[in-house]
Amino acid sequence: MAASSWIDHTFAVVVLGAGGSGLRAALGCAQAGLKTACITKVFPTRSHTVAAQGGISAALGNMGEDKWQWHMFDTVKGSDWLGDQDAIEYLTKNAPAAVYELEHWGVPFSRTEEGKIYQRAFGGMTKNYGEAPIQRTCAAADRTGHAMLHTMYGQSLRHDVDFFIEYVALDLIMENGVCRGLTAWCLDDGSLHRFRAQTVVVATGGYGRAYLTCTGAHTQTGDGNAMVLRAGLPLQDMEFVQFHPTGIYGAGCLITEGARGEGGYLTNSNGERFMERYAPTVKDLAPRDMVSRAMTLEIREGRGVGERKDHIFLHLDHLDPKVLHERLPGISESARIFAGVDVTRQPIPVLPTVHYNMGGIPTNYHGEVLTKAGDDPDTVVPGLMAVGEAACVSVHGANRLGSNSLIDLVVFGRAVGLRCAEKLTPNASQRSLAKDAGEDHLARFDKFRNANGKTPTAQLRERMQRDMQNTCAVYRTGASLQEGVDQMAKVWADAPDIRVTDRSLIWNTDLVETLEFDNLLAQAVVTVEGALNRTESRGAHAREDYPERDDVNWMKHTLAWLDIKTGHARIDYRPVHSNTMTNEVEPIPPKKRVY
Ligand code: FUM
Repeated sequence: MAASSWIDHTFAVVVLGAGGSGLRAALGCAQAGLKTACITKVFPTRSHTVAAQGGISAALGNMGEDKWQWHMFDTVKGSDWLGDQDAIEYLTKNAPAAVYELEHWGVPFSRTEEGKIYQRAFGGMTKNYGEAPIQRTCAAADRTGHAMLHTMYGQSLRHDVDFFIEYVALDLIMENGVCRGLTAWCLDDGSLHRFRAQTVVVATGGYGRAYLTCTGAHTQTGDGNAMVLRAGLPLQDMEFVQFHPTGIYGAGCLITEGARGEGGYLTNSNGERFMERYAPTVKDLAPRDMVSRAMTLEIREGRGVGERKDHIFLHLDHLDPKVLHERLPGISESARIFAGVDVTRQPIPVLPTVHYNMGGIPTNYHGEVLTKAGDDPDTVVPGLMAVGEAACVSVHGANRLGSNSLIDLVVFGRAVGLRCAEKLTPNASQRSLAKDAGEDHLARFDKFRNANGKTPTAQLRERMQRDMQNTCAVYRTGASLQEGVDQMAKVWADAPDIRVTDRSLIWNTDLVETLEFDNLLAQAVVTVEGALNRTESRGAHAREDYPERDDVNWMKHTLAWLDIKTGHARIDYRPVHSNTMTNEVEPIPPKKRVY
């Protein structure tokens, strides 16, 4: 393939990804009069946000008193004090306006008797600084992400965002540390494209598919994260991988935490509601890391259910069928299809399942990508922004609270739009790209397209996924993580033997999966190496050999760069922002997390 094959485009902003955060960012930029492209490998309304179920958090106070300061406290505590408090203040304070904006755009939220947005309880969301569970999660039945995504796609079209659909991004175009655009491959006609932009916004979501079982779509391969690593920039806090307590046993599909928010509960083989022992105040509505650990311990100690005693039951059978029908129709259907269970009569078999990546591309609360240069840990990378699950703002720290993801998407998606409006000039002229811009991207692309080894991509991918699942799980030890590091090194070493059978450029899914596998492997390496390096337990990172949180040595973000030659990470750190954004609220000092 020759460089002359490129089709060139120029935009003020190029957003990569059309999930909730990508659409919200693109929409904001377009509203500001900036010529905006949105590039996506799937049709926008098939992005993974469509699968988000339970809801979006905001202290609206529709079901009783609530305050954004309580939401902020819960989020800091939920993060096990690894979240940046300035960003968390920004998130929780701006959350109500972001939800009302969605409402006004047309999101069909469920309603209270008085016609207000319905809010349900979710894990770790409390009133009055931890006193009792609170109903803070705004819901559109159990299809909230679906409703948001369709609404925001419609709004983006209304504001003339230019969509490039079924385009697979290859890499970022970097010039002397500045991001100037990106390259992409159009699946439909096989053409190759170079997008030049004043700013690129990475909104490619998480990388759950580095694991064997996850609640995420098969497309969830963290492509933008890997592009950032290949650009020589770091990812942050990748060791923090969230396991959602209620993935359907065997299938991995999500059963929303909203099920417990509506009154569902977990039981072990003795029929015991065991969460009462682990979290006496909030019980089944404890944060996800705690519930997942409790379930794992119950199973380990022989109190799992089923023939193999290897899962847990989630009960909804005591709830009014009308409530199930109105508020939880989606998961009632999933339970029937994937577990053969009628939720009005039978419990759902569930197991903690990989669900979310707290780590990602480090950014400030404007969405600007950060790196550490010299002594400055908050150096902005010009021309590059990130948002949503791809980013690590960091508002979730070591453990995200349920329903804080959807609000993260829209609050920080909006922040990106505001920042671009402030910093960029519509139609400003842009320097030409270097003549050979994208040549190295083509070299990688052609390497895989012509890969002629003996090992099918699927075989290597499954090895990586199984090893990640077994070694970097809910509980980890130095030994399990060392094994994970060694296994990833072996997969890395075997990758040059990969075989791609389809050489074509049009809808070559063999090649797409291979590019995605390469992206996943890069992230798996920094995840497991970061996890081995962090010798403490915090949030979702539960080290059995280091069971305590260690604020003296480890209240800091991990930064991990990937050495593409060796396939290993280089690790450094950024301080946690324990300061707030304004004087309206005091910083929340670290304490033991008790619920
Ligand atoms: O359980 C759920 O509905 C998932 C929500 C979330 O991850 O925020």
